[in-house]
Amino acid sequence: METVLLSDSEADLIKAAELIKNGEIVGIPTETVYGLGADASNENAVRNIFAAKGRPADNPLIVHLADFSDVVNYTRSVPELAYKLAEHFCPGPLTMVLPKNDSIPMVTSGGLETVGIRVPSHPIMHRIIQLSGRPIAAPSANTSGYPSPTSANHVMRDMNGKVAAVVDGGESEFGVESTVIAIESESRVRILRPGCVTREMLLEYCDEVIIDHAILNELEAGETAASPGMKYKHYSPKADIIMVEGELEAFTEYVSKHEPDKSFSLIFDGDEGSFPYRYMTYGGNSLQQAHQLFAKLRELDDIGAEKVYVRAPSKEGVGLAVYNRLIRAAGFEVIRI
Ligand code: TXA
Ligand code: MG
Repeated sequence: METVLLSDSEADLIKAAELIKNGEIVGIPTETVYGLGADASNENAVRNIFAAKGRPADNPLIVHLADFSDVVNYTRSVPELAYKLAEHFCPGPLTMVLPKNDSIPMVTSGGLETVGIRVPSHPIMHRIIQLSGRPIAAPSANTSGYPSPTSANHVMRDMNGKVAAVVDGGESEFGVESTVIAIESESRVRILRPGCVTREMLLEYCDEVIIDHAILNELEAGETAASPGMKYKHYSPKADIIMVEGELEAFTEYVSKHEPDKSFSLIFDGDEGSFPYRYMTYGGNSLQQAHQLFAKLRELDDIGAEKVYVRAPSKEGVGLAVYNRLIRAAGFEVIRI
């Protein structure tokens, strides 16, 4: 199959929407990362998404809607708290897990009775949902296990020949995937995957926000994941990633003792001046780190890095999302100095 690169012109967005209506898969930019979109109600199209990514069948897809009020068409019941959160965070990088109805096939929900609903704010994704008139199932547009794509070029590299088209919308704004939450009561939510809607932001609208254990910890054998995505190895470039938590001086000393000429380091903006080994930087604060992380992991592979020491980010605010992606990329290996 030839993969067509489309622009953000209205004519091209109409083409993208037509492809979706015909059961094809299209790479689409969103404000978080690029998604691989297809009609969420078309079982065949959804099966093809799993095949293109090489994704395990029990890992559910998020369903993207143009407006949160459409949620009633795809769910059995919607708590008041979901509407309240939607008022503040939709459209935007928040996914709410809700009980699904029969309009969402089991292939889409990975066999679960629930469905993750998200209303993306990116104008291209929003327009394609509107023009297609379909709910769009869209996982991140990477090969399963590899870092999520934050540019059309990343999507092309993973999906060329496997999907009908990719729409080029430039670099993703946030750079990490949406915050996924389960609503446990009218006053309590559980974060299943951290993102740019932070715990602190959610706490403005409910009494309790639990950070699921699996966000920072490896699942024990036999433990079930609240979010199936948590049990798979993720975000891993080919390089061996080692997270090192500590001040710059201690980090530098650690690298100096571990064959610095055979590794790269991923350090913060501002660290460069006193770092004597090969490095790349990934931003100076959590938002910048979120924006740059996946692109930098891909770049490290492109230059053939085999071992990468990463200066561990803060776990505060958006930092938790960055930390969560890195700890998975590192296979939960963190060196604390
Ligand atoms: O920002 C995003 O969320 C991007 C863009 C394209 O919207 N999409 C994305 O999808 O990251 P994906 O499939 O790569 O990640 C979805 C995550 C997975 O970890 C999955 O297990 C979880 O959300 N998830 C989806 N539906 C769920 C459900 N019903 N219950 C629990 N977890 C769910
Ligand atoms: Mg993904």
